[in-house]
Amino acid sequence: MNKRVNIIYISLTGITDDCCKAVAEGVREAGGEPRLIKANESKGVSDVLDCDAVVFGTGNYFGYMEGMLKHWYDLYQIPVKKAVKKGDLPWKPYFNISTGGWNVDKPMVIMEYLNWGMRLKKVFPYVTYMGKGPASPEALAVCRERGRQLVEVDVNTAPDLYQPTERQLKAAAS
Ligand SMILES: Cc1cc2nc3c(=O)[nH]c(=O)nc-3n(C[C@H](O)[C@H](O)[C@H](O)COP(=O)(O)O)c2cc1C
Repeated sequence: MNKRVNIIYISLTGITDDCCKAVAEGVREAGGEPRLIKANESKGVSDVLDCDAVVFGTGNYFGYMEGMLKHWYDLYQIPVKKAVKKGDLPWKPYFNISTGGWNVDKPMVIMEYLNWGMRLKKVFPYVTYMGKGPASPEALAVCRERGRQLVEVDVNTAPDLYQPTERQLKAAAS
């Protein structure tokens, strides 16, 4: 059981915020302990190291993750990567939440690569809400369901849905 689930996210107009809160409800329903962490209020590497599973959430801002979440990765992705390598720490399950007006895929390309570097296993496809205005009830229901499933998933048997390229594998081994 992945009891402690840290949800690291940013939300400028509340859309991703609603999605993350729905994930947190699902986590709680499954007996887990969610922590909602705004990227600009993060305590740093411990937000990934001191938990059993992670969720990242962002809106699409000009084709990329929102800037404060980018800043989080700028500050902490390499330190986390080094810590997990040095301690030979086990993989943890994660999934992303992606919201956007008309595209939800672009920010995920780099986020999934960076997450893989932190030994986070993509156990579910990224959850999406695409549209104008607040997230739909359907999208929120999926968030909730994924939150429940994340608590229960077995990271050792779940397949990694992220497939690194040969070049990425070589770079990680060096
Ligand atoms: C400055 C700005 C830039 C945006 N750029 C994009 C974009 O490039 N692609 C897209 O699909 N949506 C874009 N959007 C829409 C947001 O991604 C969308 O409303 C998102 O759900 C906002 O999430 P948040 O309120 O949680 O931050 C943009 C919105 C703003 C305000």
